[in-house]
Amino acid sequence: MDRMTNQSANRTRPGADQPARPQAPWRIEFPYHWDVDDLVARRELLHLAVYTSGALFGVTAILAILGALRRPERLPAVPIARVSAVPEGSALYFTYPGPADQAVLLHLPGGQFVAYSQKCTHLSCAVYYQPTEGRLYCPCHEGVFHPVTGDPIAGPPRRRLPRIVLRQEGDQLYAVGREA
Ligand code: FES
Repeated sequence: MDRMTNQSANRTRPGADQPARPQAPWRIEFPYHWDVDDLVARRELLHLAVYTSGALFGVTAILAILGALRRPERLPAVPIARVSAVPEGSALYFTYPGPADQAVLLHLPGGQFVAYSQKCTHLSCAVYYQPTEGRLYCPCHEGVFHPVTGDPIAGPPRRRLPRIVLRQEGDQLYAVGREA
């Protein structure tokens, strides 16, 4: 309180060195207390900015960790193809987990199988595998996804394709879940 009093005493108020004038009506209706003006000092404002930034950083980090820890959604196992029926470098289109959920199975060069939702993460057009180009392609706005990771690599999409989790038993491939 003393600090406030001293500060307010040292402060040069507009019109403080002039004879008192009649107050404007707005000053009477909305009085402004110059002596508490220093309560929001520059240092306090800086502290507030630092704490706010720290809190935002913490929340962002927590959300990033939760996203990284997200587990695949377990769904009923559904047989989708025989390994021998999908030659290396080709694709097979199927639906999973529901009849309206279109998906694509890729037999990548080198022998690896991967599967993704066929729905583009931009505006939901269907993506197609182009083995000669080595990419998954969305013709609507020329979106391109990496066939090994499903990550967007060109065009407007910003999120990767949801991956279908596969399991192989002998010559049979099953879809067993989905990752966002
Ligand atoms: S819907 Fe696929 S790029 Fe726009």
